[in-house]
Amino acid sequence: MNHAPQDARERALAALTTARARTSALTDCVEDPDLTAQHSPLMSPLVWDLAHIGNMEELWLLRQVAGREAMHPEIDPLYDAFEHPRAERPKLPLLPPDEARKYAAEVRGRVFDVLEHAPFEGSDLLDGGFAFGMIAQHEQQHDETMLITHQLRRGAPVLTAPDPAPPSGPAPVAAEVLVPGGPFTMGTSAEPWSLDNERPAHDREVAPFWIDTVPVTNADYQAFMADGGYTDRRWWAPEGWDQIRRHGITAPLFWRAEAGQWLRRRFGATEMVPADEPVLHVSWYEADAYARWAGRRLPTEAEWEKAARFDPATGRSRRYPWGDEDPTPEHANLGQRHLRPAPAGSYPKGASPLGVRQLIGDVWEWTASDFTGYPGFRAFPYREYSEVFFGPEHKVLRGGSFAVDQVACRGTFRNWDLPVRRQIFAGFRTARSL
Ligand code: AVJ
Ligand code: FE
Repeated sequence: MNHAPQDARERALAALTTARARTSALTDCVEDPDLTAQHSPLMSPLVWDLAHIGNMEELWLLRQVAGREAMHPEIDPLYDAFEHPRAERPKLPLLPPDEARKYAAEVRGRVFDVLEHAPFEGSDLLDGGFAFGMIAQHEQQHDETMLITHQLRRGAPVLTAPDPAPPSGPAPVAAEVLVPGGPFTMGTSAEPWSLDNERPAHDREVAPFWIDTVPVTNADYQAFMADGGYTDRRWWAPEGWDQIRRHGITAPLFWRAEAGQWLRRRFGATEMVPADEPVLHVSWYEADAYARWAGRRLPTEAEWEKAARFDPATGRSRRYPWGDEDPTPEHANLGQRHLRPAPAGSYPKGASPLGVRQLIGDVWEWTASDFTGYPGFRAFPYREYSEVFFGPEHKVLRGGSFAVDQVACRGTFRNWDLPVRRQIFAGFRTARSL
């Protein structure tokens, strides 16, 4: 956890390099028309993400950190996420694919020079190499966004990855785990690359509760569907009921019934819905309705984090469920090593001290909570990362998915989205009070 400056510099170099390899893989696998097309009104064209990644890097690492002049000031407004909603981006005079690639590469070349000499101390932006870590996380977040665009794209498959291995090692002993009540430390003040919304560490009181050992599976979810879950208003929040009625939603996104079987489309291929995998592509409203049908509820964000980080033996909060060490492929399904979640019950080495599995990786997990700032929150380094999204309209997701790199995933990491969203790699687990 306490990385010496040289160590931090190497970590930054490695994180930036890993991110760029993934950006290239996601944008080199299709022809130019697929990069400039909009595959869904919910998403930017891939070529927008590509140049936006370079533009953010230029803004923070070359201009803010190193005091350099803008390379192409006229393009800044095109890549400012707040100037143009995603649906409008294809109509902008965006850099064509080759120029976008060249721009991002040129920025990166200069950033490597800056990285060699920048002091890793003396300001909040540079302490521990924060700005470099923030930009690596930003690129990886857009890589997940681009993978979502790939999932929405129509056409033959262009991405491949091996499937996760079948679960091995001890199966979970029980369907749910009791998390003891009492205070625990939520958030962090120590993690050098933690983003503003994860800070500061603070005490949070949580009443005892039960939480699912593993995420809700497709088989579990199909039981809800077979029991008429989508036609029984009792289970649904009013806005969720409106949404499923208006859009005729009767199953997770990308699912389709054929000859009495549920099939799903996954990165261009159609396959049977696997019973034992965590359910994916459900909205917060669908997760909430399932939980009510099951006589349960979604965990609050604080409950989720306590289940993930609290070590009853020491009373301490860990960086990850398994301890303070960075994830390895034995702990969690992260980083797009696979293009799907692993079966429920996988990764026994990634379990929390209380035995909760798959909290990190596989699927983002919807929580009951609105996205808000912790007590003592300070927007840093820009209000548009978190603060402008605080409020009741966004729900918090935790734990990361198979699509996110470990640099942007830890026990304290917070994601958020609108409760109607289904294209993100989100599932859930349920909880109940004592
Ligand atoms: C944290 C995933 C909600 O994609 O909107 C990327 C991350 N912020 N560029 C998003 C983000 C600025 C953000 N999420
Ligand atoms: Fe961004």
